[in-house]
Order: sequence, then C-alpha cells, then structure tokens
Amino acid sequence: MKRVLFVCLGNICRSPAAEGIFQKLIDENHLQKKIECDSAGTSGYHQGEPADARMIMHSKRRGYDLTSISRAFVPEDFNKFDLVVAMDDKNFFDLKEMLPSEDLEAKLVRIVDYCEVHEVPGVPDPYSGGADGFEVVLDILEDGCEQLLKKFN
Ligand code: 4NP
Repeated sequence: MKRVLFVCLGNICRSPAAEGIFQKLIDENHLQKKIECDSAGTSGYHQGEPADARMIMHSKRRGYDLTSISRAFVPEDFNKFDLVVAMDDKNFFDLKEMLPSEDLEAKLVRIVDYCEVHEVPGVPDPYSGGADGFEVVLDILEDGCEQLLKKFN
C-alpha cells in the first residue's frame, strides 16, 4: 500500500480538493487496495471543519465529493505516508522544517512539479478571492493529480 498526503495551509480549500480528485482517480482505476490518500494543513486554524463551502461546490460541479475534515499536519505524518505533497512553496518550506530526519526529505514534493499543462510556481490560495480562483485550483490539481497517479503504475 502506498500512502499519499496532500498538504496546504488551512486544509479546507486546496488539499481537500487534491484529495477528492486523487481519490476519484484511485476509484476509477480500481487502485483502492494499492493507494490511499489523505490531506492535512500546516496550520490548525480550521481543525475539525469540513472543506470550504465554495471549494465543495466548485468540486461537486466537476464530480468530486469533498468529505475531508480539516486537521493539522504533524511530523509523524512523514513516517506514516510515502509521499507528502505540498500545494505551494510556503507549504513546502513549512513542511521541510517539520521533517523528523533528513533521510525522509525525498518524500516531500510539490504538486506543481507533476503538472504537464499548467506551468505555475504553486497552487494559488483561493481563500480570499473570487469564484475564478477555485476553478484555477481545480484545473491545476486535475493536471497534477493525473500525472502523479501515473508515477504509481
Ligand atoms: P487552503 O486555503 O490553505 O487552501 O485551505 C486557506 C484556508 C484558510 C486560510 C488560508 C488559506 N486562512 O487564513 O484561514
């Protein structure tokens, strides 16, 4: 079993969407016994909350069901998961500081490094913006998640 953890700041917008997209890909490809995914936030600001209602709505329109409840990332996640996937550089460097040991550093990656269509430095935080921002997040994540899944085949 391979375990993938998607991480953003609040775990209510970007990483729950990445989890929902990746889970749908897992289901469609009948890989439930081979790959598991989850999501977390570098902050615990929204701990215990469901995903942002706007992110849930935009995701639902594309056929993704976001069911995750926000939780804070903990260093132990680096031991539990095979891959820790940051949404932007701030997440990446915050996570890097939480590495329990240097030999686990190879587990830390950025979702945009897998993208083939979208050449962007990171997945932009949609929290304080308008509806377009949520669509952009989904566009980037669909690209990245599709390519990421291929790495497990
Ligand atoms: P996320 O978006 O990191 O994609 O979940 C955010 C959610 C909440 C906040 C910032 C970003 N916040 O500052 O509360």
